Amino acid sequence: MHIDLLIHSASQVCVVPSHDGPQRGDKLGDLGLIENGAVAVKDGRITAVGKTADLRATYTAAQEIDANGSAVIPGFIDPHTHIPWYGDRANEFEMRLGGASYMEIMNAGGGIMSTVRSTRQASLDDLVTDNLPRLARMLQHGTTSAETKTGYGLEKAAELKQLDAMWELNQRQPIELTYTFLPAHAVPAEWNGRTDDFVDYVINEMLPAGADWMKKHDITLFCDVFCEAGVFDVAQTRRILSRAQEMGFRLKVHADEFEGLGGTKLAVELGAISADHLVRTPDADIAALGSGDTIAVGLPGTPFGLAENEYTPAKAILAAGGALALASDCNPGTTWNESMQMVIALGCRYMGLTQAQALAAATLNAAYAIGRGDQIGSLESGKQADILILNTANYRQLGYRYGGNLVKQVIKKGEIAFQQVS
Ligand code: NIG
Ligand code: FE
Repeated sequence: MHIDLLIHSASQVCVVPSHDGPQRGDKLGDLGLIENGAVAVKDGRITAVGKTADLRATYTAAQEIDANGSAVIPGFIDPHTHIPWYGDRANEFEMRLGGASYMEIMNAGGGIMSTVRSTRQASLDDLVTDNLPRLARMLQHGTTSAETKTGYGLEKAAELKQLDAMWELNQRQPIELTYTFLPAHAVPAEWNGRTDDFVDYVINEMLPAGADWMKKHDITLFCDVFCEAGVFDVAQTRRILSRAQEMGFRLKVHADEFEGLGGTKLAVELGAISADHLVRTPDADIAALGSGDTIAVGLPGTPFGLAENEYTPAKAILAAGGALALASDCNPGTTWNESMQMVIALGCRYMGLTQAQALAAATLNAAYAIGRGDQIGSLESGKQADILILNTANYRQLGYRYGGNLVKQVIKKGEIAFQQVS
């Protein structure tokens, strides 16, 4: 049979099999390793994975890539970023180094509001131009699909501008983007002290505008809320998300980043696709993750970026039977990290994951966390050919080594999207 591309002679192909769902609980970390492996690609999709000798005997390929003893893994999926934003907050990092906390800076009018001010002022073109190189660096480090969010507009026009920027960014570079509407990311300064009124504004003005945008572009948006002490409580989060669900959004929640309010339990109850952050998650909420379909997304770059000591309790989530994914949370406030390799390194050290668990959490389970588990996240036949060729023979180097780039080649939909110059 004739195919477009054969990647062969890999020391190991990490399939990360899905068995029709995310890898839950103690099943996390099944890589389905094939030694001396190969991957066959046609029309941007994986046709077969197997031993190099078998696939070479079966297929003739228009193009061959000799992996030459390197490991081959699925493209990383980053299911939680705050791209696109405008500006930086290096000054706040310096304030934190001087002892100020993230929430103190936020309550004094900085933090998210500071990025909101610069993002509101930026033109659509500014936003696109500023975020393209960010996505290019993510691609170079192996991210082939990523979630992006609004939340730095916090008023109708600026939130829609962020959605337009995401759409534009999706057309202009290889990483496939999914879109999340996060109009309740903070209470903007002009609504200070009137959180419930702002929640009404979100429900009555912003959600309908987001729903119109979604219809116009014929895609499904996720809707997310920052459920946190001093931001939006569980009742306010429930009001926004329930209405969003009625309007056709799929749901995500920022929960338990600083305090465990019950946002994760709410996410499970509402059938949210994911609950993200989960640092101070109460036991009852961890148990809920074990019985529901909501994916727990750990963001170890965030406590690391804030120099805090508590991380997502991955072992407890897995012991409860939960499905765990990893993401970068890439944003200018808490963790400006564009590399999922760094996320894996932190997940291994501070969440207690093995390299195999972290890899499955950053690929297959991450795909489920953005509702695309049937399309991407593993090297199974029928899936999109989003593939990384590492510059090392063993996937175990991921997590162990950090600070460099172990990705030699990135294949997106069967085409070479990035190649390291050696
Ligand atoms: O996920 N927690 C809320 N949002 C971000 C931070 C965003 C910012 O500080 O700009 C987070 O950590
Ligand atoms: Fe976040």
